[in-house]
Amino acid sequence: EHSSIVIHEISKLQSPEQLWSPYDWYHDMIVNNPIYYDEKQNVWNVFRYDDVNRVLSDFKLFSSIRKRSVSPIPPVITRVDINSTDPPIQRDIRKLVSSAFTPRSLKEWEPRIRGIAKELIDNMKQMNKPDMISDLAVPFPVTVISDLLGTPRQDLHYIKNWSDILFFPNSEVDVTDQAKRKYRAMSEFNEYLLPIVKEKRQNPEQDIISDLTLAAYEGTQLTDEEVVTFSLGLLAAGNETTTNLLGNMFYTFAYEQKGIYQEILSNRSLISNAIEETLRYRFPITLDRVLTMDSDVLGVPMKKGDVIVIWLGAANNDAEQFPEPNKFDIHRENSNKHLSFGKGPHFCLGAPLARLEAQIALECFIEAFADIVPTETFNPALHLHKGTQNLLTLPVELKIV
Ligand code: HEM
Repeated sequence: EHSSIVIHEISKLQSPEQLWSPYDWYHDMIVNNPIYYDEKQNVWNVFRYDDVNRVLSDFKLFSSIRKRSVSPIPPVITRVDINSTDPPIQRDIRKLVSSAFTPRSLKEWEPRIRGIAKELIDNMKQMNKPDMISDLAVPFPVTVISDLLGTPRQDLHYIKNWSDILFFPNSEVDVTDQAKRKYRAMSEFNEYLLPIVKEKRQNPEQDIISDLTLAAYEGTQLTDEEVVTFSLGLLAAGNETTTNLLGNMFYTFAYEQKGIYQEILSNRSLISNAIEETLRYRFPITLDRVLTMDSDVLGVPMKKGDVIVIWLGAANNDAEQFPEPNKFDIHRENSNKHLSFGKGPHFCLGAPLARLEAQIALECFIEAFADIVPTETFNPALHLHKGTQNLLTLPVELKIV
């Protein structure tokens, strides 16, 4: 049996054009195959909004304690494995850092986050050929998350590089090589963080790594190794996802619906729904859970131990929940009912941060640029991060205010 689940093998989205535009396939699965068993990967798949919602909300039946996963990241072996535990343990782990990510604590960070965005955007004003990915969507989140954690600025490129390797999607080709690369990145990342954690334990500062060295768990302090694990998880999780959110949002403005940017310029209260609609419309995430007992709550008999793959991108394009789902509509009233941050006990801890970052990035961008327009030749399907719906590059032309 495979230890990882290869999403590609299930979806049959093969060409770059299909990956970039999976909507017909989502629709087909929602209508014709909403609970689909894939024999080769030996997993169930759920696509409909209500089913996805149900699976994620019911952790007693659909557990996160699992051996196989779509997640390409090697498993964690300390007590603080937030991703692969269920409540009540998961709740206790989460409490260790949850206070740092509330909208209230983030208020204190807001000026620094805004400073980082402004600096990057100011630099873009000087550029002949600005690229929304490499000049903003990549450096902004990695700088923010590493500032929050308290790792040195000069090391950002290492952190970004390790995160990229860890998140690289599973594929059937060169499984062993890939696993090796991931384990190497994981151990380098661990080795990098260990002395930083030790130093902060001696001399705590105002940052999340320092907070973690002081935090108590099950009556004892977290060990250095546990703080490392947790910090690594936060550094990696807060990175690529936010890059994709920004990239996909600016793509839509520049290339897909040219009126929207002007509309937002003249009415900034539309910013937050534009962000939510981006998360709904173009955000491909899959999660997985395992059945804790035999059940037919999804309408077909499933067995204890069966694995379920959850297609958030499909659920977000379910016409039952979002009428005319293929339309990117910043006036949609329920955009924020999307499931891109998950649902239930594991609901993304970083959601308030990701939302704040996107809000600030767009506010600063609007201050600087009167318009964002396409370059002539760009074809998104030819510039995807291998096997994903995420852009590696996004050249645009910017009109300075
Ligand atoms: C969990 C998506 C940004 C930290 C999750 C989950 C999703 C998700 C779907 C649920 C996983 C599950 O149910 O198994 C996203 C998206 C983001 C984003 C779409 C950006 C647009 C961030 C950021 C952080 C972060 C900026 C920063 C620290 C976490 C953590 C968890 C998590 C720690 C685990 C929570 C738990 O298991 O209790 N995220 N995330 N995420 N996310 Fe995010």
